[in-house]
Amino acid sequence: MKKIIPLLLAFFMFSHCNKEPENKAEISVPSKTWWKEAVVYQIYPRSFKDTDGDGVGDIKGIISKLDYIKSLGIDVVWLNPIYGSPNADNGYDISDYKAIMKEFGTMEDFDALLKGMHEKGLKLVMDLVVNHTSDEHPWFKESRKSRDNPYRDYYHWWPAEKGKPAFRPGAFEADGSGWRFDSLTNAYYLHYFSYKQPDLNWENPKVRHEIYDMMNWWLKKGIDGFRMDVIPFIAKDTTFPVITQADLDKNYHGRWDVYMASGPHLHDYLKEMNSEVLSKYDCMSLAEGAGMLKSTALNFVDEDRHELNMGYHFDGVNLGYIPGHFKKMDPNWSLVEFKKIYSDWDAVYKDKGWGTIYLGNHDQPRMVSRWGNDTPKFRAYSSKMLTTFLLSMRGTPYYYYGDEIGMTNAYFDSIEDYRDIETIAEYEKVKIAGGDLQQFIEDQKTGGARDNGRTPMQWDTTANAGFTAGTPWLSVNKNFNQVNVASENKTPNSILNYFRKMVKLRKENPVLIYGAYHLLQAEHPDIYAYTRILNDKKMLILLNFSDHNSNINLKEIETKEGTLINNYESVDIENDKINLLPYQAVIFSIK
Ligand code: NOJ
Repeated sequence: MKKIIPLLLAFFMFSHCNKEPENKAEISVPSKTWWKEAVVYQIYPRSFKDTDGDGVGDIKGIISKLDYIKSLGIDVVWLNPIYGSPNADNGYDISDYKAIMKEFGTMEDFDALLKGMHEKGLKLVMDLVVNHTSDEHPWFKESRKSRDNPYRDYYHWWPAEKGKPAFRPGAFEADGSGWRFDSLTNAYYLHYFSYKQPDLNWENPKVRHEIYDMMNWWLKKGIDGFRMDVIPFIAKDTTFPVITQADLDKNYHGRWDVYMASGPHLHDYLKEMNSEVLSKYDCMSLAEGAGMLKSTALNFVDEDRHELNMGYHFDGVNLGYIPGHFKKMDPNWSLVEFKKIYSDWDAVYKDKGWGTIYLGNHDQPRMVSRWGNDTPKFRAYSSKMLTTFLLSMRGTPYYYYGDEIGMTNAYFDSIEDYRDIETIAEYEKVKIAGGDLQQFIEDQKTGGARDNGRTPMQWDTTANAGFTAGTPWLSVNKNFNQVNVASENKTPNSILNYFRKMVKLRKENPVLIYGAYHLLQAEHPDIYAYTRILNDKKMLILLNFSDHNSNINLKEIETKEGTLINNYESVDIENDKINLLPYQAVIFSIK
């Protein structure tokens, strides 16, 4: 034993001193799959294209734009919910999982869409909303009827004779409560979102199997996967222990991560879902990862666990919100923190699993208004710069409709302009508290009001930007004469054509998909610089996130081979110093 220890020690020291260069191990290519190589384009169907003049986008509208969608070069389309729904939360309140929302069309329309997409080599991913249903779903209608109804245990009920249940927040309720009293059976039911969205009880195996049957039904129809709405929330501590407001306030997101979601059986359910459904198809699965932490992410997506493929975290999009205010944005958010978030998340998936990258979606303000600069001077440069970021990072990019033409926040002046249940509830909260309503409206213009990202697609300069012949359900952004597909299509160096170019660059260069990522000069306040390396292929990516000239010294530039993309005409390099113009984005191939 005495001899063995020094031997082991020597071996340990030797193996550490002679460690291979850090990135050697990172260069190993993760197992290749289509969904890692895909660029996903998200369509909010309500706002994409209306063909019947009711002011609401529809499936026929998406079909009419398939050539456009294909022209982007993307591979997968994720549709926000299109199922039967009374639309309390624009389809995130489903009353019939196997029907199409009337305003959107019919199942025949859907079949035609799927066929049309597949003929063009595009894949279709649906939204799966199974933490809750609508209160108008037949299961809930039954569940309400009596305490001994066979559907009672499909939801979470709390008998009133036990007293009031412990506080749970209800995200879209002005009184903030996640429990609603129902006098019919003298009981409260749980709803993490609005009272129109009662939470399903996943502890009931009947519920789980109903969901799996429904998922199989859609996958057998031929869809290519699911984006799973608030999936960590399906499992919760159903003893409903007391949570104080102070607990929740400790960490705004802790409320989901620690207290309300990710319950003890979460991964049993996901494994079961995988074996009953997902494993039977060549499909992709994406977890909406509210409640997904760096420390827990691999539990969802480590391929050896057989659960899901990818998740999207909230750390990036939560950066810069001012605590104590509803999604109020600090204009001086820090690029250094931004870089750290994306770099730390990249590290999570260094050896296992797979990540995602996004800057906008239907729950977020427009990416150019929030992370770029939507003034006329810089809107195009900064949109292109953000596109360069999204399509040059490791992880599957999720790109939101309208960002490819640089659509901006809505800048609505009045609560009457908003349609979103969340913004309206938050406004009511401010009103009840006697707060400053005008300030709230101002904050929402640049902050997080979800309707900022939901205004109708701007196709051309005709009435309502060519979105509808009727009255749009949500006002079209006033800037549609300047910002629209028709004019961007015609202009060679438009944001739209830059997006197409960037998608092509990613597709043609596996290094941009699978290559190891290395952050350079983490502390630089204006410039985000990184390399991507795959075997002998190396790229250097430089992004100036500021509205002024900025420079960076990088020895990597000395081995520059060529410039692969640039959102300006040229780039100024003196020895190892690169001078970037405001919002300049450049990708170099280097040796
Ligand atoms: C997350 C969705 O993205 C959001 O739009 C929705 O309101 C909630 N989940 C509730 O389903």
